[in-house]
Amino acid sequence: MSSSSNNNRVLSGMRPTGALHLGHYHGVLKNWLQLQHEYQCYFFVADWHALTTHYDDLSNLENSVWDMVIDWLAVGVNPGSATVFIQSQVPEHAELHLLLSMITPLSWLERVPSYKDQQEKLKERDLANYGFLGYPVLQSADILAYKAGHVPVGEDQVAHVELTREIARRFNYIYGREVDFAEKAESAMKKMGKKNAKLYKELRKKFQEKGDDEALSTAQALLNSQQNITAGDKERLFGFLEGSSRIILPEPEALLTKASKMPGLDGQKMSKSYNNTIALRDSPDDISKKLRTMPTDPARVRKTDPGTPEKCPVWKLHQVYSDDKTLEWVQQSCTSASIGCLDCKTPIIDAVLAELAPICERAKEYEEDRSLVRTIINEGNEKAREVAKETLAEVRQVMNLSYR
Ligand code: TRP
Ligand code: SF4
Repeated sequence: MSSSSNNNRVLSGMRPTGALHLGHYHGVLKNWLQLQHEYQCYFFVADWHALTTHYDDLSNLENSVWDMVIDWLAVGVNPGSATVFIQSQVPEHAELHLLLSMITPLSWLERVPSYKDQQEKLKERDLANYGFLGYPVLQSADILAYKAGHVPVGEDQVAHVELTREIARRFNYIYGREVDFAEKAESAMKKMGKKNAKLYKELRKKFQEKGDDEALSTAQALLNSQQNITAGDKERLFGFLEGSSRIILPEPEALLTKASKMPGLDGQKMSKSYNNTIALRDSPDDISKKLRTMPTDPARVRKTDPGTPEKCPVWKLHQVYSDDKTLEWVQQSCTSASIGCLDCKTPIIDAVLAELAPICERAKEYEEDRSLVRTIINEGNEKAREVAKETLAEVRQVMNLSYR
């Protein structure tokens, strides 16, 4: 792991898809709620990313953004601990995107799997655009502007974090080289004090000679705890640990989010495009109705026909919501035809309604107080911007674009 100083920082973005559903909740959001206690989190609405595929119809963009933010807040994303913001309100993302685009080989972008996949999948759209090709660079800028150590993403996004690492490495290699790097690193070492300098040297040797990863992370922790050296010196010492250039943009790690087990109403993955979702803010009536009418094992035409839970989408929902006793009851009563499907669905309807009631209530408070939502976002934008500005100042400086 090569990363300077911000291992504690987590960053993730979501495209504004409008009202979120249970799939988002069980897949992504519950994970965010956990992370916000353990890390310094930055969660943002990737509105520019939405433009890369849906540039031709933006009439609903703004509503989708606010709806998504309200859902985040309603499920418990806490603006007191996480920074919540909108990508396009932090123009530093665009500046870094531009600068990184200069050093990103075309071939790296063409081989990102999502490039071809999405073009195949979204055949009805013309995606042969510059912006679409460059979208992983924008994502890299999102991540690197905050020097995030960890990026929670689903399987489909891991390649983008990998690309971010490659771009960061290339950036550091090109702009982190200094003629007198080794001398500068030596003098930076001295500023840590004799004892720490000695320890640093020993750890570096252990890593470089023996590939001892533990020595590397110990040395990185040592550097992170240094109060008396400048940011520039820190970058040198991080870089000197592993090679011969400063680390200006640390390489992030993907934090793989387990695929959501949340099935949709038809047993496929829950997704808006399959039209099988329960939205977080669906009314209790709608939710009951959707669940009551969802398909079951087709073998159970009459109540007296036994069924097989494994062939029933309701069974998958039981696995998310029910305890062992209920699961046992379903198996028993379905295969022996001793209950009807509606009986079987009752515990799920109850569980989903109970889960969503507090979320709906909080969402309602935010819906009724839009200015509160705007204030939260404005503050988040500002906080995010402070951090991104610092990174960009450094980036400009190493690229000789400071003009001071
Ligand atoms: N590309 C991601 C998606 O489509 C969203 C995203 C944009 C993102 N920038 C990011 C995720 C930075 C993590 C980090 O889902
Ligand atoms: Fe599905 Fe339950 Fe009906 Fe069996 S009883 S088919 S598991 S809904």
